[in-house]
Amino acid sequence: MEKIRVLFEEKELQEREEEIANELYKIYGDKPVKFLITLKGATFFACDLLKKYKGDARLEFLRVSSYEGENSTGEIKLSLPLKEENIKGEDVVILEDIVDTGKTLEFLRSYVNSLGAKSVRECTLLDKKTRRTVDIQPTYSCFVIDDLFVIGYGLDYDQKYRNLPYIGVVEK
Ligand code: IMP
Ligand code: MG
Repeated sequence: MEKIRVLFEEKELQEREEEIANELYKIYGDKPVKFLITLKGATFFACDLLKKYKGDARLEFLRVSSYEGENSTGEIKLSLPLKEENIKGEDVVILEDIVDTGKTLEFLRSYVNSLGAKSVRECTLLDKKTRRTVDIQPTYSCFVIDDLFVIGYGLDYDQKYRNLPYIGVVEK
């Protein structure tokens, strides 16, 4: 078993999510909001954030992937698409686990816009700002991190470690 160094404890994650959930509620109030949860990585973050959100959250899921091991293939695969009728005219918040090169977020933003969303904001748990190859910033980043490969709390290394309750780095 590899050694894992903890980067963010569960408590830190929960506290930051509460702040962001309250920020979002200030914007949308009681209007219905479509939260787009990107499978599989954003599921733990989305569950915890949305339990703290006081407004009218509606959920949609989609699946995109670009990674194999520690490296992005650069090519984005949409393996579970959205239905246009669920997005057209809606206020949308994309929930992401991590923004790295920014390619996935760029793809998601234009995909959601192409389905006719009324507004689109993005909220990511982790943001590797220095790794960007595309000029894009999410509306909200819970935590900005260095160029490290992180795992846990939904994030995987070849499908492993998603169920850790914290975010960590595998020590080599
Ligand atoms: P991007 O398109 O390069 O921004 O990559 C975004 C996706 O790559 C994320 O949604 C993750 O699935 C994956 N990813 C990027 N960095 C990490 C990491 O450190 N750990 C686990 N997955 C990562
Ligand atoms: Mg992801």
